Amino acid sequence: MSTTQEKIAELKEKRAAALLGGGQAKIDKIHAKGKKTARERINQLADPGTFEEYDAFKLHRCHNFGMEKNQFLGDGIVTGICKVNGRSVYIYAQDFSVLAGSLSETLAEKIVKLQDLSMRNGIPIVGLNDSGGARIQEGIEALRGYTDIFTRNVLASGVVPQISGVFGPCAGGAVYSPALTDFVIQVNLQSYMFLTGPKVVKAVLNEDVTVEELGGASMHTTTSGVTDYGAPTEDDAIEYIKGLLSFWPQNNMEDSPVVETADPSSRRSEELNTIIPDNPNAPYDIKDVIRSTVDDGYFLETKEAYAPNVVVGFGRYGGKSVGIVANQPAYYAGVLDINASWKAARFVRFCDCFNIPIITFVDVPGFLPGKEQEFGGVIRSGAKLMFAFAEATVPKITIITRKSYGGAYCVMSSKHLRCDVNFAWPTGEIAVMGAKGAVEVLYARGAKDEADPAAYLAEKQEEYNKQFSNPYRAAERGYIDDVIEPAETRKRIIDALDSLKNKRDDTPMKKHGNIPL
Ligand code: HXC
Repeated sequence: MSTTQEKIAELKEKRAAALLGGGQAKIDKIHAKGKKTARERINQLADPGTFEEYDAFKLHRCHNFGMEKNQFLGDGIVTGICKVNGRSVYIYAQDFSVLAGSLSETLAEKIVKLQDLSMRNGIPIVGLNDSGGARIQEGIEALRGYTDIFTRNVLASGVVPQISGVFGPCAGGAVYSPALTDFVIQVNLQSYMFLTGPKVVKAVLNEDVTVEELGGASMHTTTSGVTDYGAPTEDDAIEYIKGLLSFWPQNNMEDSPVVETADPSSRRSEELNTIIPDNPNAPYDIKDVIRSTVDDGYFLETKEAYAPNVVVGFGRYGGKSVGIVANQPAYYAGVLDINASWKAARFVRFCDCFNIPIITFVDVPGFLPGKEQEFGGVIRSGAKLMFAFAEATVPKITIITRKSYGGAYCVMSSKHLRCDVNFAWPTGEIAVMGAKGAVEVLYARGAKDEADPAAYLAEKQEEYNKQFSNPYRAAERGYIDDVIEPAETRKRIIDALDSLKNKRDDTPMKKHGNIPL
């Protein structure tokens, strides 16, 4: 019979073995590649000393291919709970030192346990992926394990925030877990995600493509839109995750934490009174408007490199978290296209899930015309955005800074999509279409009979501009609640948020809507 002291010593021994994962040699190999281990990543995310591990002693049960002799405590993943910015977060990190972090039945059970805890206790969950995929020796059990994880990703959606970091390989069906979560962060040049790798692409399509081209962060942040942020380093990826979490509530039943600020609520932004160029077609950067109005100029953008004609991200006004959606006149004149509409729609839905008010800055000439867009289903994409804004019951505030034309007016959180407070700057142009297009339709035929058709059209354009390219027609109808001086935008947003703090709104009872996916 061993003594208590011997038992404690045994525990310590086992714990030390578990901490080493696949062993020092494997850890050294990871470091030699410039990567961090699962535990180092967790320690970086967690507030110091707060990580508590679960299932450190779990072992796989596979007996194929002599696997019973290939055992490592914890079985290729580190899971547990920690504090991030002082609040609880469940975290798991795949441990590449153990069989390349490949997913066994038991490894999946560890993730599933965490997912169930996260939903039950209303605590966000962060997964750091770095894995060779299904554990090949196990086969079908790994497939079940993956699918159990995917199912919980779906069930947890809209209940607790879910973040995926992709720090190494993530291939085949494994990609579905990140894809099902709310935000995906990849580390540049060391991570990749694809359903089928370069070898299969070569075999099936006879095309040569590199891992980086096919699934690197630069592709996913610019082209597929699967990834929200490409981090230059692992440390930066972790900082970004911390930043995201700081803006959100723990679950769908809470509000975001209020973060005290020394930035006065009534601070004027004089620079906004001159930001709109006299030439209506000249660009300006909407991010300047955002940064000059949010608390301390701090705006955390997501999907920055994808469809930059719309800008989305998180900020605070008077300490309260908001999601910001803004057309970007500095990129393609801020036009709405397929990608921009989808990007904004997904962001709006995230905010609505988690009680985060939405501030929308509008300067949009319309939807991008053309065969490519129509063939690609721009109608469906615009409808996604319409659906997302109309469905959202969180406080919604819209500021039209310049153009707001046609369908794009309707879709960009207009009053008629149940927006609560709609402001326009005096530079707002709210009309069914731009003056040039309108005059073409109305007067092109008549202009032919004029002595100087060009001068006639210019005069009509001027007339149209005077009548319609302003915010007052909309204000006369109450579609705009007030026309405000640009410099007072911050104060007006903060006041509006305050007025909406007890907002209650509902949608008709239903199982769920059928968003045009
Ligand atoms: C079991 C694996 C493994 C796997 C790697 N290892 N992948 N063991 N199952 N999937 C083991 C290796 O045998 C090796 O063991 C150790 O992990 C480290 O692997 P290396 O190849 O030495 O590392 P590296 O050179 O860094 O390459 C990493 C890698 C490569 C790119 C991930 O190992 C790789 O391509 N693995 C196979 C990937 C794959 O095809 N997975 C199955 C996909 S199918 P030793 O003992 O030598 O150190 C799939 C279906 C999912 O995932 C469907 C879900 C619905």
